[in-house]
Amino acid sequence: MAETNFDFGMVGLGTMGRALLMNMADHGFAVAGLDTDKGKVDALHAEGEGKKVQGFTDAAEFVKSIRKPRAIMMLVPAGAPVDSVMHSLTPMLEEGDFLIDGGNSYFKDTDRRAKEMAELKLGWIGMGVSGGESGARHGPSMMPGGTVENYERIKPIVEAVAAKFEGEPCVALMGSGSAGHYVKTVHNGIEYAVMQLISEVYDVMKRVLHMSNAEIADAFDEWNQAELQSFLCEITTVVLRHKDETTGGDLVDLISDKAKQKGTGKWTSQDAMDLGMPIPTVDVSVAAREMSGLKAERVEAAKLLPTSAHDFPYSKEDALTIYRDALYLGMLISYAQGLALLREASKEYGYGTDIQTVAKVWRAGCIIRSRSLEQIRAAYEANPDLANLLVDPTVSKIVLDKERSLRRAIAGAIHTSIPVPSLSAALAYLDGYRSETLPANLIQGLRDLFGAHTYERTDQPGSFHTHWQTE
Ligand code: 6PG
Repeated sequence: MAETNFDFGMVGLGTMGRALLMNMADHGFAVAGLDTDKGKVDALHAEGEGKKVQGFTDAAEFVKSIRKPRAIMMLVPAGAPVDSVMHSLTPMLEEGDFLIDGGNSYFKDTDRRAKEMAELKLGWIGMGVSGGESGARHGPSMMPGGTVENYERIKPIVEAVAAKFEGEPCVALMGSGSAGHYVKTVHNGIEYAVMQLISEVYDVMKRVLHMSNAEIADAFDEWNQAELQSFLCEITTVVLRHKDETTGGDLVDLISDKAKQKGTGKWTSQDAMDLGMPIPTVDVSVAAREMSGLKAERVEAAKLLPTSAHDFPYSKEDALTIYRDALYLGMLISYAQGLALLREASKEYGYGTDIQTVAKVWRAGCIIRSRSLEQIRAAYEANPDLANLLVDPTVSKIVLDKERSLRRAIAGAIHTSIPVPSLSAALAYLDGYRSETLPANLIQGLRDLFGAHTYERTDQPGSFHTHWQTE
């Protein structure tokens, strides 16, 4: 007879779903999986031999087998499939049961689904899961959002399977409602920014310094031993060194220079604009992917608009130090933008997100994990209401120390016509944020002249309008 007391259920036994379920089984939990594809259920049984794992193709039997209140997670593609699984399961669920959406869902969809479920006296946890297949199998970083009560039900399971940073699990409740998916979206926005920063530095090393892929990988290896230590720098060396099986050449040179995207970076920028929060490094990283997509146009434009490259102003040795430090500061500024956005979103949406906790769960398991995150966590521990990471006393020292390199890195790229939108946007953000005066006074004057939009004055309170022209 089938067990009827499984601790946890998983819908969708694709690579991610099966990997996470097996991770739970390895930690001694009794788990059930559901998939309409019998082959996937068989694969689960084969891998779960000797463990408390059972696969189902029948949804009603699967639901019945899970202990109440039932916690059922879905790892299905974001969008319509989530609604479809939700609607197929709700008639079988009982009061207090809840579903967990582990995909990269748009946070406003999560709010809508949670509301719909609450009307049925059912719960919803929107949970960002980062780390890919190997993370799911051996320790992902997880960002759940929802009620404390529902989180408590799954806490022992998710804490057991999560990645650990010095023994601390990289999972915690990010806040109420769609907080989990919001945090994951911002994680991905930062992921876009850091990948773009790395690519810009790679571009200079390749096209200006004429370094081979192996040499660039060696440099990243070295950088990765110190303050730049991060998963994304680490895997950069793997991609750069990989040989193509057919040609024997470097695979990276054969990959088309058009980057795709599934939407999370764009959502981060879109919502930041809705909230009036500047995150320019993320914005231009999304735009850089879009620019990469205009391949045919770029090829034509390259003929008509040849670059006016000037001499690169640094020796190779100096350049490597400059670009290493610029990358490091660019990364810090990207985290600063993302976390400032999260702080604002938490206020606006009433999430109750603790930024220190976010930094904590990003320290291991996720794609943007890096050595810096422990320092970032400490900054928010010292001041939980820190408006911006850049004004933390320790981080501000790093900023002042590395700033010149960032400036020089951008100058070198501009001299040689290498596009560095993310490095440039990082510096412009820094220069804007620490600028006591900005030229917005002129913008206000112009707005008032052509549209009577009014302006505020520095010497008197109130709103003012001026008749700027005599005729
Ligand atoms: C993660 C990744 C993961 C996925 C990205 C890719 O945290 O494990 O972020 O969620 O690889 O969503 O996003 P793009 O396809 O938009 O680059």
